[in-house]
Amino acid sequence: MAMTDIIIRQETTADAAAINIVNISAFEGEAEAKLVTALRQSRSFIPDLSLVADIDGRVVGHILLSRIHLKHSANETDALALAPVAVVPSQSHRGIGSALVRAAITKATSLGESAIIVVGHPPFYTRFNFDSVTRWKLQHSLPVPTEAIQALELQKGTFNGGSTIHYSHPLLQFFQHGGGAGSLSRSPE
Ligand SMILES: CC(C)(COP(=O)(O)OP(=O)(O)OC[C@H]1O[C@@H](n2cnc3c(N)ncnc32)[C@H](O)[C@@H]1OP(=O)(O)O)[C@@H](O)C(=O)NCCC(=O)NCCS
Repeated sequence: MAMTDIIIRQETTADAAAINIVNISAFEGEAEAKLVTALRQSRSFIPDLSLVADIDGRVVGHILLSRIHLKHSANETDALALAPVAVVPSQSHRGIGSALVRAAITKATSLGESAIIVVGHPPFYTRFNFDSVTRWKLQHSLPVPTEAIQALELQKGTFNGGSTIHYSHPLLQFFQHGGGAGSLSRSPE
């Protein structure tokens, strides 16, 4: 299968069920599908930044970037959380996940977004220039190891001086109930 057969496009309302199936099959559980549904119904949802990978009309992958904030002293900056990203197991390791991440970064950049934060497997995200939040002294309150949180500046200087990452309610609920553990436990570290 050539990469040219894959279209990365914005989700439509008709994709919701297929997106659930992609997440349930990739994560072998319902937590991420429920997270996507909760985020879609929340104020943090940004329709332009929910993308699907489509092969001949079949949704085989999905990525969601949603609104979070960075707080520094009295200032609050808009930023994005990348969660989740999923590719159906039968199509994994073919570059679809990477294409989704690249498309999401490109779209977020074109929208003038400042930064993207992700909880995930470090080697997968370093290839897109994400780096540990410890490099920028970003604080967070998630019950996950700080090494697993990585960040990408889309506008240089966004992280200068350090900030505290403020997640949306659906993301906090997800991580406080053990979400994200699956992707981390598969890490070779
Ligand atoms: C992670 C995932 C989105 C990657 O999609 P993909 O289409 O296979 O990605 P690519 O083909 O572009 O890149 C593959 C690379 O992703 C990384 N990768 C694959 N599965 C992974 C997993 N479960 N966790 C972390 N990284 C993974 C590996 O480095 C892999 O490299 P390799 O093919 O040389 O072994 C996909 O495997 C998936 O849905 N996994 C289960 C869900 C998940 O863990 N999502 C990420 C956390 S939100």
